[in-house]
Amino acid sequence: MSGNHDKSFVITFLGVLGILVGFTFTIIIIARILTSGDASVDQAALNKAIQARIAPIGTVITDPAALLKVSAAAPHAPMSGEQIVATVCSACHGTGVLGAPKIGDKDAWGGRLKADGGVDGLLASASKGKGSMPPRGGNPDLSNDELKAAIQQMLKQTGV
Ligand code: HEC
Repeated sequence: MSGNHDKSFVITFLGVLGILVGFTFTIIIIARILTSGDASVDQAALNKAIQARIAPIGTVITDPAALLKVSAAAPHAPMSGEQIVATVCSACHGTGVLGAPKIGDKDAWGGRLKADGGVDGLLASASKGKGSMPPRGGNPDLSNDELKAAIQQMLKQTGV
């Protein structure tokens, strides 16, 4: 009696197991059929597209030679004496702050012009700085020509 019972259990168990194994293989086969189309995808093109999509937004330049090239490629357009005085020099020379010779003060400018022996003398001291006057008015990008034009502009506005 009990032997019969065990036998029918084993048969049912193996039957269920068989169905499950068969089901598993069926799923595997269906999955392979469904995904077999992927073989046609160009893997190189796919990688390229992914690289482009995840590429960083900016580029950091660490090569000193390349950096020099970048900064040399963008020289500033030469400014007129008038522009330089308005944007740089007048910060101090407009009001005479820190003891700067004030634009319009004939005595102050006339005296310095004489003491330095002319515009070139003023240029020399303006380019290297003097007392509270920073070298090149604090703008190292200014060329000698620009600095000289600015001095001449201030002398002209002063009337000396
Ligand atoms: C931060 C303030 C400041 C700025 C900006 C400035 N100056 Fe001056 N400058 C001075 C002061 C202060 C003196 C007087 C220095 C002294 O005699 O001790 C002076 C003096 C001078 C002199 C006379 C130098 C001499 O030998 O007596 C010249 C020329 C001059 N500045 C030109 C310029 C020009 C050109 C600019 C703009 C490109 C400029 N400065 C911008 C403060 C300034």
